Amino acid sequence: MDKNVIVVNHPLLNHKIALLRDVNTAMKQFREIVCEVSTLLAYEALKDVPVEAREVTTPLESVTQYVVKENSVAIVPVLRAGLGMVNGVLALLPTAEVGHIGIYRDPETLEAKEYYCKLPEKIADKKVIVLDPMLATGASACAAISMLKSKGCKDIKLMSILAAPQGIDKVRNSHRDVQVFLACVDRGLNGNGYIVPGFGDAGNRLFGTK
Ligand code: URA
Repeated sequence: MDKNVIVVNHPLLNHKIALLRDVNTAMKQFREIVCEVSTLLAYEALKDVPVEAREVTTPLESVTQYVVKENSVAIVPVLRAGLGMVNGVLALLPTAEVGHIGIYRDPETLEAKEYYCKLPEKIADKKVIVLDPMLATGASACAAISMLKSKGCKDIKLMSILAAPQGIDKVRNSHRDVQVFLACVDRGLNGNGYIVPGFGDAGNRLFGTK
């Protein structure tokens, strides 16, 4: 696979994926696990977070230590399932700003259409991580990335929990510069555009809707 597609392989992540797949995992636990998986993915995706030197005085002496540069990262969940990943990333980087992009699929043209966009100031200068737990056709993630590029963003990563090969291909073909972080890649899509074997509808399972 392309070096810009990073499938984080760890037994703890795989265990959590099994719990997400399980139809008997109820909303509260599903939510908690999405959050935990997002923290583990963020640990990888933030490896190149901007840092700056800071002088720190220990009880014994002073030392130069690298700390995360303030205001350097924004996370952008794609509504609505991306919201389930936000707290997991903030657990690692509580100072990250949070933008929101809402995208729906036009039932006639099947094109991804933006219906909401609220982004932090100066987002073009920040490292941006798009959150979309299910990379199915890739249409929403690609539309969100295009929107961010149209605002001048140059350093964009995509974090998804589960992907179908079709979604990965779409992002690779449309946005080759964007690194994609995943916990798992599944077999494909069913006729309704769901990832199989998948988790089902992540938004419904996160928010208790049908
Ligand atoms: N969105 C979901 O919530 N689940 C899928 O399988 C695909 C898209």
